[in-house]
Amino acid sequence: METEGTAPTAAIRPGYVHGYSERETRRLGDQADTLAALLHAGTRYPAGSRVLEVGCGVGAQTVHLVGGSPGARLVAVDISEASLARARDRVAAHARDADVEFHRADLRDLPFADASFDHVFVCFVLEHLWDPGRALAGLRRVLRPGGTITVIEGDHGSAFFHPDSAWARAAVDCQIQLQARAGGNALIGRQVQPLLSAAGYAEVVVRPRTVYADRTRPALVEGFTRNTFIAMVEAVRDEALTAGLMTRTDLDRGIADLRRTAEDGGTFHYTFVKGHAVNPAR
Ligand SMILES: C[S@@+](CC[C@H](N)C(=O)[O-])C[C@H]1O[C@@H](n2cnc3c(N)ncnc32)[C@H](O)[C@@H]1O
Repeated sequence: METEGTAPTAAIRPGYVHGYSERETRRLGDQADTLAALLHAGTRYPAGSRVLEVGCGVGAQTVHLVGGSPGARLVAVDISEASLARARDRVAAHARDADVEFHRADLRDLPFADASFDHVFVCFVLEHLWDPGRALAGLRRVLRPGGTITVIEGDHGSAFFHPDSAWARAAVDCQIQLQARAGGNALIGRQVQPLLSAAGYAEVVVRPRTVYADRTRPALVEGFTRNTFIAMVEAVRDEALTAGLMTRTDLDRGIADLRRTAEDGGTFHYTFVKGHAVNPAR
């Protein structure tokens, strides 16, 4: 089965699809805060355990990790120094007493000793890698035998909404195509189980976690439909136009139709995938 992508060449790689703007920092924060109960349920690490969060970004999940596991010793890694600076600020503001160390590193080349962590946490990162299977296999080196990995990913193919609109679906597809051009895969949720198994993990358990938003759940409409999902599609509007993926008229109609799903009478569904697995003794 083919699960790995192709290494993006400089010619086709516009960079990390979401970018590192202030707007994206807010979007990641809204996403993590709105979905914390849904995505972090069941993730609790014992006091004293060493936990590695790879691709921590601006620390949006980090504060929920340490909030749910007081006493755990967290090491948070990202490839972006600017994101790490924001993550430090976020943890200082929201979890001042937490035991968190930050390191700038590529998750494929981590500066840590073999078997130095009890748990690894990966959220919304594999979707940006051209080699997610190799990355997962590589993380086993720093995870002790018997230690666990938790992986959370989205899958934009799981998004459906009312009122339905071919323009809105095409606008979402722009995000999927641009992410693929950057070497990622916005449909990776459906591959989490095979990726973990192929990387050599044992006891792989993957479950869907669905967000459903309508006017009776205004916090989800605001935090997820508007500020996480639609904001993500809006953020690639210019890049999608430059790439000629849709005409300006059609893309703007698609974005307007997506916004209608967050108004009275609209509904929005999206399914995340959360996987848990154990690093077997070699
Ligand atoms: C969508 S963000 C998710 C951030 C955070 N996990 C969250 O859920 O809010 C993806 C993050 O992965 C980081 N990243 C991408 N490739 C990486 C790599 N090879 N090594 C370390 N971090 C990486 C990016 O810099 C970015 O901060």
